[in-house]
Amino acid sequence: MRALYLALLLAPAVSFGADAPPKVSAQQFVNLQQGDSAFPGFRRAHAKGICISGEFQANGQLADYSQASLFKAGSTAFIGRLSIAGNNPTAPDLKAPVRSMALSFASSRTEQWRLAMNTPPVMAVADPHTFYQQIQAIQAGPAAIKQFFADHPESDEFRAWAAQYQPSGSFAAETYHSINAFYLINADGKQQAVRWAMQPTVAVAANASDEADALQQEIAARVAAGKVVFDWVFTLADAADDETNPTKAWPDSRQQITAGQLVVTGTTPQLEGDCHAINFDPLVLPSGIAATRDPILRARSAAYAESYRRRAKEQLQGALEGSNNE
Ligand code: HEM
Repeated sequence: MRALYLALLLAPAVSFGADAPPKVSAQQFVNLQQGDSAFPGFRRAHAKGICISGEFQANGQLADYSQASLFKAGSTAFIGRLSIAGNNPTAPDLKAPVRSMALSFASSRTEQWRLAMNTPPVMAVADPHTFYQQIQAIQAGPAAIKQFFADHPESDEFRAWAAQYQPSGSFAAETYHSINAFYLINADGKQQAVRWAMQPTVAVAANASDEADALQQEIAARVAAGKVVFDWVFTLADAADDETNPTKAWPDSRQQITAGQLVVTGTTPQLEGDCHAINFDPLVLPSGIAATRDPILRARSAAYAESYRRRAKEQLQGALEGSNNE
């Protein structure tokens, strides 16, 4: 027994499969994403955004697939955030290659659901280590990212999307994708892999403004003039689809179910709004929704927590310094 104990103690670190990519820590991710000069108090990715609020109006069509209470016919309030990718909270809205929507539902006093979605339907890479290398290549410049894509044919679907993507003139006219798949779990414990998209109900031509805050101004004015509505559409995987690989879209022929409509009725600048203090961790899930084994999901959860920890500490320090000066 003692010999076995010693053998285990002296064994080299366990490796899960010879081909498993090396692990990247949340700290490494966030160091890379924030770059050399972080913006204190802000998210290390998707730093520029605007808070939104409203309700999800469920039609009940998804209730047989998931016991999550917000899919029962009726309304659930949300706090959310529309943002652009990048680490700079003052970046020009119209230059960002990716636009995003995050949502937080408090379905009951004990359950929350947090979601963060981007405009591309797929990722360029399938595991955290390769995503880390992709960010390094983006930061190194056009030649490096060209070489990265050439070395990573799994990025083909992402590149095809990027080549045809035409940014609209409004956050209200974009489609926001879950990208990573999740399971719906119904009252009988039956599990169904899904991806979802928030689909716009308006079309808006490209915005020609040279205002840095063009998208924020547009959405604030649009919501002030009337509600903004999205259809929440779920795509159901079949047995041929790999729910752990975010680089591959599922065929258009897969069954789709519209669960209801997301109705945005309010906007608030992020520093004054409730969304700023929320960590939209994609693994905060209610019963009726479960994570797949897609490794990107775990990496996201850890990195968002690290980014949140840094910005929350900086905000607290800023507030304490402010009160000392009074
Ligand atoms: C390994 C892959 C990824 C890493 C390391 C990563 C990292 C991050 C970090 C550090 C933040 C800031 C979190 C905060 O301070 O609150 C963030 C925000 C965000 N990420 Fe990711 N991300 C990844 C993949 C994705 C994917 C696949 C999506 C889309 C499905 C996505 C969508 C978002 C959105 C929408 C936000 C902003 C949420 C908000 O408004 O607070 N990310 N990401």
